[in-house]
Amino acid sequence: MTRTYVVTGSASGIGAATARLLRERGNVVLGVDLHDADIEADLSTPGGRAAAAAEATEHAGGTVDAVISCAGIALPIAKTVSVNFFGMTGFVTNMLPALRKSSAPRAVLVSSMASLHPNSAELVEAALSGDEAKALAIAEGLAADEVTGNLIYASTKRAISRWVRRVSVSEDWAGSGIPLNAVGPGIVLTPMTADLRSDPASVEMVNQMVPMPLHYHQPPESIAYLLIWLASEENTHMAGQTIYCDGGSDAVLRGDDIWSKYELAF
Ligand code: NAI
Repeated sequence: MTRTYVVTGSASGIGAATARLLRERGNVVLGVDLHDADIEADLSTPGGRAAAAAEATEHAGGTVDAVISCAGIALPIAKTVSVNFFGMTGFVTNMLPALRKSSAPRAVLVSSMASLHPNSAELVEAALSGDEAKALAIAEGLAADEVTGNLIYASTKRAISRWVRRVSVSEDWAGSGIPLNAVGPGIVLTPMTADLRSDPASVEMVNQMVPMPLHYHQPPESIAYLLIWLASEENTHMAGQTIYCDGGSDAVLRGDDIWSKYELAF
């Protein structure tokens, strides 16, 4: 059955691969991006997010079956918070009315294995509280220093994975029958990582931070296939998960026991 998908970040990398595969499979895809998209919008601003959601809903005729949010940047600047956290969470929340009209609505956000990396707890909490001005002020402070600036991207991804876990079981999402999940890629062969992969010293650093024993750096399609399944009708009961599709870096870095710390006492 043909479904209608809204894919952000559709002009490049993971979003472009996802949009292409969905179209090849006969679906209707509305791409959202700064340029070269069905809906050209800047998701870094509240106005841009609202306009993009309104336009996507109108183009879709009121009903959207799934939202796949890929748009993001990986720079040590405050704007990364506005695009990666508030851009994704704001846009997908704005799409709720159109999703609720679908008979099998789904939403998936692209987090990262960087959600496991060192981050700023203060920035993560400010993002989760929904206070964009406060989060931006904290990020400006971090960006002023080269070392702390590098915490910004990981903080946005930790916040995305925690937000998905938190809201996926709320009345808005699970209560409306909408599975909401995230994916956590490793190093993907897209323009975003071109500089990182361009010289031996940075490749060595990246490989230490993101060890990928299974098949090494991954093509965008490796994430697109997962996003497509999570956004499909076949996914009926998954809620709040970040699925690490990262060549094994989560398993290498966190090891075999990620449960003991959180034993439940009944
Ligand atoms: P990319 O740079 O190839 O594509 C990102 C797209 O987002 C671009 O088309 C860009 O125009 C769009 N975009 C950026 N700012 C925007 C804004 N303000 N409004 C609307 N669109 C905007 O990057 P890639 O690699 O495809 O990344 C996609 C997602 O995957 C991002 O969220 C990234 O953080 C995440 N990710 C990427 C990894 C990688 O190794 N490439 C690893 C883990 C996560």
